[in-house]
Amino acid sequence: MRCMTVALDVAADGDRPALRLRPWRAADMPDLLAAMALEYPSRGLASHPDIKVPGPPRWSGPRNDEEAALWLSGQQRGWAVGDWLTFAVLDAVQNTVVGHVALKNRDGGKVGTGERGEIGYWTAADARGRGIAPAALRAVTDWAFSNFGADGLPRIMLVHDLDNLASCRVALTGGYPFHELSPAKPPYWFTDGHIHLAEAPAR
Ligand SMILES: CC(C)(COP(=O)(O)OP(=O)(O)OC[C@H]1O[C@@H](n2cnc3c(N)ncnc32)[C@H](O)[C@@H]1OP(=O)(O)O)[C@@H](O)C(=O)NCCC(=O)NCCS
Repeated sequence: MRCMTVALDVAADGDRPALRLRPWRAADMPDLLAAMALEYPSRGLASHPDIKVPGPPRWSGPRNDEEAALWLSGQQRGWAVGDWLTFAVLDAVQNTVVGHVALKNRDGGKVGTGERGEIGYWTAADARGRGIAPAALRAVTDWAFSNFGADGLPRIMLVHDLDNLASCRVALTGGYPFHELSPAKPPYWFTDGHIHLAEAPAR
């Protein structure tokens, strides 16, 4: 997939700055490292299979330039193969990174080839509470349904831990109604959670 052609713009609204979403670039890595330094590793960034944190799978993000380069290569590989489509979310005026959205095929393989995609997101700690995640979530969801069509991508699921109330709010305001409770299912996830689903619009 040609990643450099994808750029999504979201207008400012109230507290929320205008956003630009596009694939991650090397120039974004200092912002990403600064954000990860605020909360790594307990609330970092779901990131890259090559960066392992000991213990059960958990949020992980790059901690230094070397890991950032590895992390970025993972995002670029994902776009090239089409199985891991990630967006840096930028404050469009400041041109700074404020978040991240990642879309994959739930059952592996390329996005747009299965029964359902799966989406995740993160907002930098100092940019939270301004509606950035739900706006970014909507932008990527709309793009994905329009790009892959209902045949290739009938629905996208979103899973959050039961105690992640902020994420539950993001799901609901970002266009993902609650679908069902999801009991812990190691090694895929280790706590009870919610599954939310967005359906592709009918043509
Ligand atoms: C969950 C998360 C993505 C929310 O992002 P966000 O851009 O702050 O989203 P919002 O601004 O819409 O905030 C979501 C809710 O949390 C509240 N909130 C979150 N952080 C807040 C803050 N620092 N100050 C005030 N309110 C905050 C908001 O009021 C909002 O609730 P509301 O819709 O009832 O008003 C962000 O907290 C995060 O990145 N957390 C760590 C990673 C994570 O949990 N990702 C999701 C995994 S499923």
